[in-house]
Parts: sequence; C-alpha cells; structure tokens
Amino acid sequence: MSSQRDKALALVERFGSQRGDPFAPSGMPIAGLAERFGTPFYLYHGEMIVDRARRIRDALGTELLYSVKANPSLALCQLIGQESGVGAEVASSGELAVAMAAGFDPADIVFAGPGKTDDELERIVMAGIFADHVESLTEIERLARVAGAMGRRIGVGLRIDPPGQLMGSQMRMGGTGGQFGIDHADLGRAVQTTLAHPELILRGIHVYTATQIFDPDPLVEHCRAILDIAIAAAEEAGAPLELVDLGGGFGVPYFERLAEFDLQRFARGFRDLRLSYRSAPGLRDTRLAFELGRYLVADAGIYVTRVVDVKDVRGKLFAITDGGMNHHLTATGNMGQVFRKSFPMLDLSRLEEEDDGSVAVTGPLCTPLDTFGTDLLLPRPRVGDLMGVFYSGAYGYSASNLGFLSHPTPAEVLLWQGAAHLLRAGGRPEDVLSGQRALPADPLP
Ligand SMILES: Cc1ncc(COP(=O)(O)O)c(C=O)c1O
Repeated sequence: MSSQRDKALALVERFGSQRGDPFAPSGMPIAGLAERFGTPFYLYHGEMIVDRARRIRDALGTELLYSVKANPSLALCQLIGQESGVGAEVASSGELAVAMAAGFDPADIVFAGPGKTDDELERIVMAGIFADHVESLTEIERLARVAGAMGRRIGVGLRIDPPGQLMGSQMRMGGTGGQFGIDHADLGRAVQTTLAHPELILRGIHVYTATQIFDPDPLVEHCRAILDIAIAAAEEAGAPLELVDLGGGFGVPYFERLAEFDLQRFARGFRDLRLSYRSAPGLRDTRLAFELGRYLVADAGIYVTRVVDVKDVRGKLFAITDGGMNHHLTATGNMGQVFRKSFPMLDLSRLEEEDDGSVAVTGPLCTPLDTFGTDLLLPRPRVGDLMGVFYSGAYGYSASNLGFLSHPTPAEVLLWQGAAHLLRAGGRPEDVLSGQRALPADPLP
C-alpha cells in the first residue's frame, strides 16, 4: 500500500509533471501560476476528469450521473457534460442552474435531496428534467400538486431507503431509517401514489446509501438488493422501469492505509450480476446508472496555499499558510471525520528535496481546528513556499465555510489543453462588505 507521499507523487505525474523536477503541471511552473492567479487557489486538471469519466463509464457499461455537489464549478460540469452517457444528479436549485448552464440535456438530469421547497419543485417541473427523485410520500403529493397547477407532467424516481445496511462504508445516507428516501416498507404505496396522479410519470427507483466505500464485493451485493427492489417496483407498477439509479459511493483513498477502490474488480462482479438479471421482466430495456461525485473529480484537484510563517515551537516546526479550513473544510478534517487524518500533501516549491522531519501545517484562522496535519513528513518549509493538498477536486471550495474570518476567497484555475484558465478569481478583502447594508443614516426613533 503506497504512502501518502507516494500517492501525492503519483498525482504529480498525472498532473503532467516529472518526479524529481520542480512542480510544473502541464509544463507550467507552479510558482508562475501562483504569481499569475494569486494564492490560495484550487487547480483542476481537465483531461484527468474527462479520462476518468470515460474509464468509469466504459468499465461499468452503464450510464453515469455526475453528483454536482462534489464540485459545482461550471467549467468542470461542462467538461463532464460533454461526455456521452453522462448526466447530472443535482440536489438544489443552484446545482440545477449550473447543470443547465453547463449544457446537460434536461432529459439527463435527476434531482435528489430531502426537503425540496415548492419553489424547487416548480423549477424541477419548469425545467422538465428526467426525474425528481422523491424522498417521501408527501413529496409525491406535493410534486403532483405543483405540476398540476402548472399544467405539466414530470418524471418521478422513487428514492428508496433499503432494509439492510451496506457494510464497510464510512458515512451512511440510507439503510438507517433516517431522513433520506422512502422507507422500503412503503414501496408499494409510493408506486401506487405516483401512478394515481396523471401529472406524474413513474421513471424508476434510486438507492444511494453510503459514501467512501472501498470493498467492491459488498457493493455488488448491494446492487443485487437494489435490482430486487426495482423488480418489486416494476411488478407493483405492472410495467418495466425506465431507469434504476444504483447510487455509487466509490471511495477516494485520501488517508493513510487506504488504497484505490478496485474499479475493475467491481466492474467484473457487476457485469456478472447484470447477466444473471438479464431475463428479469421488470428490468426489460431498463437503463442503469451510477451516480458519482468525488470518484470522478477528487484526484484532479490540488489546493495550493502559500506558507506565510514558519516557527519552531518547543521543537515542533509549524508552517502557517494563507488559507485553511475556510477554503478547504474537508482537508482539515472538519467535514464529518471523527479523527483528524491528513490528506496527501507536498511542499510544491521543494519537490526535489528529501523530507527531513515532521511538520505541522496549519491555516491562518483562530482555531486549532484549522490544521491540515500535525506530523507531515516534509522538507523544512520556508516562508513563501507553496503547499499542495492533493485529492482536492471534490468537496473543496463549495463545501467550505468561506466567510469564516472574512479572508478573501480562493481562486479556481483549470488546466485544459495545455493552458491555464481562470474559472473564478480570488476574492479581495473588501468583498466582506458586498451585499451588506449599513445602518440607515437616519434611524427611526
Ligand atoms: C444522494 C447522493 N448522491 C451522490 C452523492 C455523492 O457522493 P460521492 O461524492 O461520495 O460520490 C451523495 C453524497 O452525499 C449523495 O448524498
């Protein structure tokens, strides 16, 4: 199993830079990129994302849905949306707006998420997307009412909370009797309620229960359980379903002792499973899809932040950078991790130097939570160095508490076809005032 350093160095190469040379993704020295765009910034690699989408789609032989929540950058969505057989799974009106602006065909968009407002349901109907993945019996009724008032019809996918838990994952959104999806026991009612409304078109079912799954074998068994639920739904409906969304949750090996999810092994198991269901009448002509977020984009992103101070505190070396949990909540361990574990990190200004000890790398905020790692093996950092946090393409910018402490927001930069493109400029300190209103000059008594 490779060390965190080896994982990062492998990604250095995939970003188009040679091991042992100064870091120059796609041939562009990192110092020049930092000069041009300012630090901190997120750096994404377009070709890596496109290659990965193709590789996953071809290995699985199914459709893919990109979970926009992983990274709602418009340009990334455009790159992904250009691939055939890849649609979008959105979870808010904002994500729907990004997916539409990125050029996804509404017929390739599904919308999942508990607690959709009437305004969201109206936007779903207006956009005419493939399906609202409804999360409760009440949502079915509300959607029918909204669509009826608009004089339109809309597709419905039933998000089902299955009876059993998927073992071995790190975060669960199903199988637990929580807020996600319709309880499996209510499957029949959900089908009948949908069919009872002429405004609704039953498209299929959706099961998404967990993320950060590394063991392919239980995941194949989980897919079997989903196909069985789909067959039961089709029997209840008296017709085959159009789409079964099998979820996904393929893991990204951010941490020590985690190895890559074995896609080929999963794909083999999944193809066998599919063959064994080929004559199931409820699945005749049914399309299958996996919805993936981090597995598509995480490895194609690096968060780059500059060291602004280095200090020796009772024999422990600290490097303090110009961005931290405010820009990258996930990499500081503050997005659902129980124990802090470090993402792979490298001093991008000293790639050629050997590690010479353990360094704590922290951000600039006023809380000890703002720490990327306390025992990172790195060369001795200097003020001005650029630190790179790898696997930062997912749940970075949009998943962070960007307003906390009112530092400027980071830029987002895309490497694509040998050039660096600014996707979003970094913020300025004055931005903290934008949208705020001062007290009226003449307040009423
Ligand atoms: C319903 C649903 N789909 C997809 C995802 C994306 O998960 P991941 O980025 O782990 O692939 C999530 C994550 O929370 C989710 O809740």
